[in-house]
Amino acid sequence: MQTDSSFTFVLFGGTGDLSMRKILPALYEAHRAGGMLADSGKIVAVARHLADRAAYVDWVNEHVKPHVSKNGVDETAWASFLDRIEFVKIDLGNPEDFTLLRDALSGRPGIRVFYLATGPSLFVPICRALASVGLNENSRIVLEKPLGYDLKSSNAINDAVGEIFAEEQIYRIDHYLGKEPVQNLLALRFGNVLFEPLWRREWVESIQITIAEELGVEARGDFYDNTGALRDMVQNHLLQLLSIVAMEPPHSMDSDSVRDEKLRVLRALKPIDPRDIGKVAVRGQYHAGVIRGSAVPAYATEPGVKQDSNTETFVAVKVEIENWRWAGVPFFLRTGKRLADRVAEIVVNFRAVPHSALGTSALRGGANRLVIRLQPNETIRLYCLAKQPGEGMNLASVHLDLAFDRFFREGQMEAYQRLLLDVINGRLALFVRRDEQEAAWRWVEPILNEWAAANKPPKPYAAGTWGPAAASAMLAQHGTCWLEEEN
Ligand code: BG6
Repeated sequence: MQTDSSFTFVLFGGTGDLSMRKILPALYEAHRAGGMLADSGKIVAVARHLADRAAYVDWVNEHVKPHVSKNGVDETAWASFLDRIEFVKIDLGNPEDFTLLRDALSGRPGIRVFYLATGPSLFVPICRALASVGLNENSRIVLEKPLGYDLKSSNAINDAVGEIFAEEQIYRIDHYLGKEPVQNLLALRFGNVLFEPLWRREWVESIQITIAEELGVEARGDFYDNTGALRDMVQNHLLQLLSIVAMEPPHSMDSDSVRDEKLRVLRALKPIDPRDIGKVAVRGQYHAGVIRGSAVPAYATEPGVKQDSNTETFVAVKVEIENWRWAGVPFFLRTGKRLADRVAEIVVNFRAVPHSALGTSALRGGANRLVIRLQPNETIRLYCLAKQPGEGMNLASVHLDLAFDRFFREGQMEAYQRLLLDVINGRLALFVRRDEQEAAWRWVEPILNEWAAANKPPKPYAAGTWGPAAASAMLAQHGTCWLEEEN
């Protein structure tokens, strides 16, 4: 991925958590790899409470360095990375300060990238202040999630930002789209003939998509308590994964071909009838429990969380897609904090053979199954039935494993690194277009509204388990179970 296009990467929220853990480490990795960033490219951090560049560099050394490179820091590369960094002290509450930024950026070659690693309430004021000093030309803007709280607030942000930047200038990040295995899902589906003929209602019985976390809400209790799992994970990451699993083959990999196909899926999601919410959506909240041998506290006692909080930390939901390929196939989506394992995976359960001459085990759905594991380790596992050795014809489940780290030992790229390089190089395919985001909110909103109106506490689950029993009961109604419940 060579580039010679110069850039100035302006980082708002330059001393925030995201800059510290993800953005600056990703830029460092791209720098260290060599050839990915133009030599003349600069990073301009914007912050209010540090005095000058020297203070910012001290901050980067202290806070960012511990987050870079699992394999240790290359000190030479680190020193030359620091040379790329500049600093402009701006009080975001004071739009006049933006003249300082304009002066600092004036006359530079190449594209300007404005990365808003700030709370969403600052998106519009920053965009307006940039426009007031003419910085919205020849530039791209990157917006982090959460982009709004519901359809209305997300539209308000998109409308206001859209008055200043054209849609082609706006890069809405969903970091799941930057993960290597998610890219690989596209390769698996559209680079092979093997799966595509089976990838439809005639052969697929059900699909599960799980993003399970062991972590709790960490230092984000206040934010999370006003957000909940449906907004934090389902509206964006899970529906994006669903759209990639279910989309039609795009005409090409250019950004609008891919996003058009994802949008068609999001628009075809069967609206949820509020009367059915209890049957198709489960919300839970973790109580105290044990994870990997250590006691962990209840959600309601986490800092920043209201003691009587009704916020969900777990969601399982059944989704249907109203088109010819998928009509009638349930997609079960699930996510939660403080679950038994950290795992993100997609499970495609194929139908049973129509007739078995080999006994009843071949008539069981899910005997053929594809499990695409996105993290922690990227693997694809294909389950089949085979004859057990010995007398008689007894079938047993066996599997073929594809472990990507055995094939490709090098070159794995973190999601943020890939996405930041895409922004700098003007590739929009892995960013969420406004219409996709709206379609996702439109589908999610009736669930949010119904839950808010009912005002019932979420179902409790002990930390370190797989969530409330109701999530298992929901699948049992369809004669199936979550993957970890098999056998
Ligand atoms: C973020 C959510 O978008 O994704 C977090 O806000 C969540 O709550 C995180 O922990 C999970 O991402 P990953 O890449 O660690 O699976």
